[in-house]
Amino acid sequence: MNNCKAVEISKNIYWVGAVDWSLRNFHGYETSRGSTYNAYLIIDENITLIDTVKINFKDELLARISSVIDPSKIDVVISSHVEPDHSGALKEIAALAPNAEIITTNPNGLKGLTARYGNLNYKAVKAGDSISIGERTLQFVPTPMLHWPDSMVTYCPEEKILFSNDAFGEHFATAMRFDDENDLETILFEAKKYYANILMPFGKQAQTALKALGDLEIKLIATGHGVIWRSNINQIIEAYKYWSSDEVEECAVVVFDSMWHSTEILAQTITEAFAKRGIPAVYYDIKYTPLSDIVTDIFKSKYLAVGSPTINNQMMPTIASFLCYIKGLRPLNHKGFAFGSYGWGGQSIALVEEELKAAGVEIILDKIRIANLPTEKQLEEISEKIISQI
Ligand code: FEO
Repeated sequence: MNNCKAVEISKNIYWVGAVDWSLRNFHGYETSRGSTYNAYLIIDENITLIDTVKINFKDELLARISSVIDPSKIDVVISSHVEPDHSGALKEIAALAPNAEIITTNPNGLKGLTARYGNLNYKAVKAGDSISIGERTLQFVPTPMLHWPDSMVTYCPEEKILFSNDAFGEHFATAMRFDDENDLETILFEAKKYYANILMPFGKQAQTALKALGDLEIKLIATGHGVIWRSNINQIIEAYKYWSSDEVEECAVVVFDSMWHSTEILAQTITEAFAKRGIPAVYYDIKYTPLSDIVTDIFKSKYLAVGSPTINNQMMPTIASFLCYIKGLRPLNHKGFAFGSYGWGGQSIALVEEELKAAGVEIILDKIRIANLPTEKQLEEISEKIISQI
């Protein structure tokens, strides 16, 4: 751990988190670029740590803190969020600094931390509360359901730094701590993917939080994952305003699985028909793309067509899993339809349609059900139907 040094992000404020280069799955979210667990150390009259890291990375956290001060000198720990990628090393910090006060939200943070880590030296705060840590003040802004009930961000007015935890973050492993040291297109894509997969159901809460932060002057957004925003703050805030709105774009996503290529042929015809209608469409054979990437495209695409052949009177398990995921994320203002091929029963297509409805997707086209292999004439009819009815 000798090379684990803190990174100074502002005078006497250090990044002391960890980089998880190899992470490829974050509770089901496919993280093709790894992630970081960001924690911050403020050296002031009361030495303050903002968040910890996933437990596997506690040694990195302690090494980085130790490169600045003895961890036993920590006076205050801000726990922005109970989820263990941020609170994972709280007990270890509390053992080293037993007098440190652990600040969390009331009542949800308090309940969650007590359930996970037992009775530590907690202090519960609510909206509008703040503390002085010496030259600096820390103001607490609870952001409930963004994305857990306990979630909170912290603002330091003297530094104009917003410690935003999960908000504005992205799963992106990097050795460069700031946005302007990384490729902007890549980090904005990863931030969108993060929003789509983690925050999509909480657009209203995101808008409430954005309003609460509206008047703050912000020099840095020190996130819980990925880069610290320094040069593109307006861009990420504007992106959040758009992502949290119910606006969608004239685009389509076609997702399917296939057994013997019939549903695949339908998917190709549907994708091409969307394009002929002037609606750009992306095509996903679900076997080859992780759900979290498909969802990133679905997020702001108005149209969603989902296809499955019938197997044992059901839809394909891959499509069932995909629809279960979509149902949880509740995309807004989406329109779609079901399609698929079958040998005899053909139940899958109605089942897909039911699940689309349950996910809040408005059905705008009758089910496309084709026995065995589609003929040229049937494909032309499908194409015509999409062009004329959508
Ligand atoms: Fe990054 Fe919700 O934890």
